Amino acid sequence: MLSEVTATRYVTPLREGGSLPGIVEADDLGTYVMKFTGAGQGRKTLVAEVICGRLGRRLGLRVPELVAIQLDPVIGLGEPDQEVQELLKASGGLNLGMDFLPGSIGFDPLAYEMDPVEAGRVVWFDALINNVDRSWRNPNMLVWHGEPWLIDHGATMIWHHNWPGARASAAKPYDASDHVLAGYGPDVAAAAAELAPRVTEDLLTEVAADVPDEWLVDEPGFDTPDAVRRAYVEALLPRAATVHERITVGERTGRGPSRAPGWLTDHLGPWPHTAQGGTTGQRDQKDGGE
Ligand SMILES: Nc1ncnc2c1ncn2[C@@H]1O[C@H](COP(=O)(O)OP(=O)(O)OP(=O)(O)O)[C@@H](O)[C@H]1O
Ligand SMILES: [Mg+2]
Repeated sequence: MLSEVTATRYVTPLREGGSLPGIVEADDLGTYVMKFTGAGQGRKTLVAEVICGRLGRRLGLRVPELVAIQLDPVIGLGEPDQEVQELLKASGGLNLGMDFLPGSIGFDPLAYEMDPVEAGRVVWFDALINNVDRSWRNPNMLVWHGEPWLIDHGATMIWHHNWPGARASAAKPYDASDHVLAGYGPDVAAAAAELAPRVTEDLLTEVAADVPDEWLVDEPGFDTPDAVRRAYVEALLPRAATVHERITVGERTGRGPSRAPGWLTDHLGPWPHTAQGGTTGQRDQKDGGE
């Protein structure tokens, strides 16, 4: 189970997030980015955050720790924004918290070096969970203490919106052409060799057990929360074994990032940063990261 805390103060909304997550403080003296059960995206977003976030952590990827947060909407009474008020009112009970990384900045592929093996781990993981939301348009990665952290796994496992087709859908290929790390020459074969054997039935069962019952009850087609948990395990387990054969990194569909100042692009060379392009592999010679 996720550890459970109680929200004591609503600090501020994070307006850059489409679901209007908020920063809250809790009775364990922690500060969390809170995702609300009452948000329009629905509770499956929170289920996806838990299963993928906990799975990522168990595989050694950097994902901030997750908790379940009890919310009494009364803590938002002083909040002037009506949209926030309504979100809090609709979200009494258990919500999701992600450890807040103070001072983190958004990941920029033009300003950060990463070796193909590390990039491969992230791309392979995103392929496993069908993450369509780690593109150069919306990286959903933060840099904190010089290291990249993965956030926002709400838009993954698209098949959980249509359980009868889940097995077939989970067998589909993954197009990583627009992935924020596509330009680093991700070594997905090495990642698969390292990570796929670790995605066992036991591990997936443990990860699914972290999802609170409240977000799984009354799922159409299932009698119990455990039956829903089982369906996640059964979709992810076969995918882990073979997904690397079905990852494509082709031509990106857009122009790609273009915000870097000239001095930086001169240093990094043209996008994509392949080993030949001169950025990957340099990390050892420098401090690394931002
Ligand atoms: N753990 C964290 N620490 C610090 N900042 C965070 C953290 N999680 C999220 N943020 C900030 O909040 C923003 C929104 O978070 P997130 O992407 O998870 O929300 P979302 O509503 O799912 O967003 P969207 O669907 O629009 O991508 C992030 O872009 C980041 O700037
Ligand atoms: Mg996001």
